[in-house]
Amino acid sequence: MSSVLTGITTNGSPHLGNYVGAMRPAIELSKKSKSFIFLADYHSLIKQQDPKLTHQSTLSIAAAWIACGLDLKNTIFYRQSNIPQIMELNWILTSITPKGLMNRAHAYKAIQDITKGKDKDKNVQMGLFNYPILMASDILIFNAELIPVGSDQKQHIEMTRDIANKFNLTYGSFFNLPEPLINETTSYLPGLDGNKMSKSYSNYIDLFSEEKKLQKQINQIKTDSLEPGEKKPKESTLYKYFKCFANEKNIKQIDEYFNEGMGWGDLKKELFELINSEISPAREKYFDLVNDPKKVEKLLKEGESKALKIASKNLKEIRALVGIKSL
Ligand code: TRP
Repeated sequence: MSSVLTGITTNGSPHLGNYVGAMRPAIELSKKSKSFIFLADYHSLIKQQDPKLTHQSTLSIAAAWIACGLDLKNTIFYRQSNIPQIMELNWILTSITPKGLMNRAHAYKAIQDITKGKDKDKNVQMGLFNYPILMASDILIFNAELIPVGSDQKQHIEMTRDIANKFNLTYGSFFNLPEPLINETTSYLPGLDGNKMSKSYSNYIDLFSEEKKLQKQINQIKTDSLEPGEKKPKESTLYKYFKCFANEKNIKQIDEYFNEGMGWGDLKKELFELINSEISPAREKYFDLVNDPKKVEKLLKEGESKALKIASKNLKEIRALVGIKSL
C-alpha cells in the first residue's frame, strides 16, 4: 500500500477548500494506508506574521483534522516545525534546484502579476519564492508516494518530482517520485467569487461556521442574473460546490429541477443542507478540542516522536549520499 502524505498551511482556521481538497480524501485514505498528516506551520510564516495568530492557527487546524475523523492509529500526525530534518533537507534541495524552475511557479507569478511598477518582485519574500522547495522537502523526507491535494497544488507536486529527479541524477537514486491524488470534480472548491479559495483573498467559507453564518456565506457564492431557462448551471461556481457534496442521486435530482426552471436561491438552500449535514457532526468535537489544547498537544507529540525516527534515518542516508558524514 502506498504511503500517503498531505499538509495544510496553518493560516487562520480551516476553510471548506482545505476540507474538500486535502482533509476529506486524506482521512478516507488514512483508514487503509500508512499516512503522514502534518501542519505546515513554517509555511504559514510567509503569509502571516502575527505570533498569536500563528500559534492559534496550529491548534485550530490540528483540531479540525481530529474532529473530522483522522484515523490516528494509522497516521503519523505532526507539526512541520518539530521535524528539523525537513529544514535540513530543504537546504540540500535548495542547493540543487534551478532558479528557473521556481520562476515558473504560479503562486509566485500571481504576486508579480498584481504588483504595479518597475520592480515586480518587491512584494515577493524569498520564502514565497522558495515555497515549492520546502514543500518538496516535506514530501521527500518521508519518501511519500501519494499526495492528496486540491488541483491548485498540482504544479507543486510536479516541481517536487523535478527536484527529486535532479537529486537522484546528481547523487544516486534515493527519492520516489510522488504522485498527486486529485479528483478534479470533488477536490477543488473555488472561492465565493469563482477565483481560487484563499485566506489571502478573503473569499472562503469557514469549515466550522455556525449554521446561520454558513448559510450567509453560501448565499454569497457568485451567480449570474440569467433567467432560469437561460442558465448554464453546470458551468457555475455554485454547481461546482454542489458536486463536491452531492451524491449521484442528488445530482440527478438537481439536474431535473434545473430543467424545470429551478433558481439559484433554491440551489443555495439545497447546498446548505448538504454541507451542513456533512460537517455538523464534527463541529462540536472541533470546539471541544480547541478548548483542550493539552489533548491536541499530546496527540501531536506522539506523532512527532514517530515522525522523527523516520526522518532522522532518511536524512542520515541523504547526508551520506551528498558527502556529509563522519570522517
Ligand atoms: N501548499 C499546501 C497548501 O497550501 C500545503 C502543503 C505544504 C502541502 N507542504 C505540503 C501539501 C506537502 C501537500 C504536501 O495547501
